[in-house]
Amino acid sequence: MSEELQVRCPQTDEEWQQYYHLRWSVLRQPWGEPEGSERDEQDGETEHCAVVADGRVIGVGRLQMNSHEEAQIRYMAVAPDCHGRGLGRRVVEFLEEKARELGAARLVLDARQNAVGFYLILGYNVTADSYLLFGKIQHYRMQKDLY
Ligand SMILES: CC(C)(COP(=O)(O)OP(=O)(O)OC[C@H]1O[C@@H](n2cnc3c(N)ncnc32)[C@H](O)[C@@H]1OP(=O)(O)O)[C@@H](O)C(=O)NCCC(=O)NCCS
Repeated sequence: MSEELQVRCPQTDEEWQQYYHLRWSVLRQPWGEPEGSERDEQDGETEHCAVVADGRVIGVGRLQMNSHEEAQIRYMAVAPDCHGRGLGRRVVEFLEEKARELGAARLVLDARQNAVGFYLILGYNVTADSYLLFGKIQHYRMQKDLY
């Protein structure tokens, strides 16, 4: 990829708009969910990661603390035309670093079936079946120890 990539929290209103739009368009729109459905009440108090290239947000992910020891990654999405270029990995690594800074000992996430292979490559293990989103998308609880 030739353009310069920045991996960081969104900084401007425009970037925040793009951030949520990408989350919605990848994770909610395909199932007919309205814009706005991609947000939750913890967005104001969690860590966010955006991959920005030439002013375009092309990868996103969020980290929340479930307890002092446990952090959780949610809302991972890479723009479809940018899959397979290592952007998802960059987002996960950024959020893992944040989790360590916040003192977490382990990271958990609920992976969509199609993404389990991605997280396995990044060192996560499946620990249980999780929930069924929109009655269709099976999720698997995955975990990685940070130390
Ligand atoms: C899952 C997703 C975030 C991966 O992002 P990405 O930028 O395409 O992934 P990367 O290029 O960083 O891939 C890192 C490694 O995982 C592999 N990989 C990527 N997606 C994979 C998948 N779905 N299954 C198996 N392996 C996968 C890559 O080949 C690469 O392997 P390598 O390092 O050996 O070359 C992206 O495909 C996406 O947004 N999918 C749709 C939304 C989604 O499912 N989000 C996750 C919800 S839990």
